[in-house]
Amino acid sequence: MSLLEIRDLGKSFEGRPIIRDISLDLEEGETLALLGDSGVGKSTLFNVIAGFLRPDRGDILLDGRSILGQTGHFSYMLQKDLLLPHMKIVDNVSLPLRIRGIAKKEAREKANPYFREFGLEGTQTFYPAQLSGGMRQRAAFLRTYLAEGRIMLLDEPFSALDGVTKKDLITWYREAKDHFHLTTLFITHDIEEALLLADEILLLQGKPGTISRRFRPNLVKKEGMELEEDFFRQKTEIITCFQEGYSVK
Ligand SMILES: Nc1ncnc2c1ncn2[C@@H]1O[C@H](COP(=O)(O)OP(=O)(O)OP(=O)(O)O)[C@@H](O)[C@H]1O
Ligand SMILES: [Mg+2]
Repeated sequence: MSLLEIRDLGKSFEGRPIIRDISLDLEEGETLALLGDSGVGKSTLFNVIAGFLRPDRGDILLDGRSILGQTGHFSYMLQKDLLLPHMKIVDNVSLPLRIRGIAKKEAREKANPYFREFGLEGTQTFYPAQLSGGMRQRAAFLRTYLAEGRIMLLDEPFSALDGVTKKDLITWYREAKDHFHLTTLFITHDIEEALLLADEILLLQGKPGTISRRFRPNLVKKEGMELEEDFFRQKTEIITCFQEGYSVK
């Protein structure tokens, strides 16, 4: 039994099917990427998984039990999840604790020890505008982590960053996910990002969007792989999968 099992999910909006037949398994500690073009239904799928949208059909099991329509099981970072500009970083990241009814002082005390591990030491009293893009994103990761869900649901967590910052943050997340024993389901439309981070990549294609291929990256080492032959071969393989997928539909 996997930690998360998704079975035959389908969702329509006003009679228009958006996603269909979505099934996936996520094991504890695993990182899974959902890779697909804009509009294929990635965020819709996340909103169904998080319990914000009711699917037309299918089921979602956590530890073998259905959690359909329930919220609170996941640490969900929404697409373009911004820090609140008027709030200090420590208060921004401890928001999930405040939402659970924890007092401000206690929430700050609980968040504080994580600042060093998230590379944010000394920024507690800063405002978001005083941080670099990479630091802001790490603060958003910390806020998501402090929601204490069983699984991190990250909707395009790196897409707002420039190339170098993005690479650094992917490297950082790879270490963080081992250190904090994170189980992660993330959305991207960047093949390289998916290859560098994921244990398994699911390609979403078509209208309605469905999983067209499943791909297990097979890189000996992920550090600096962008320059390696192995990396290019697998990137090309995924691009080919996309092209074939389109020609079928
Ligand atoms: N609440 C809604 N009501 C009606 N249609 C919606 C709603 N939410 C999303 N859609 C439609 O569903 C489709 C999929 O949207 P979704 O946001 O899931 O795509 P996405 O894959 O996340 O795209 P992107 O990569 O651009 O974020 C789009 O055509 C969108 O217009
Ligand atoms: Mg989206």
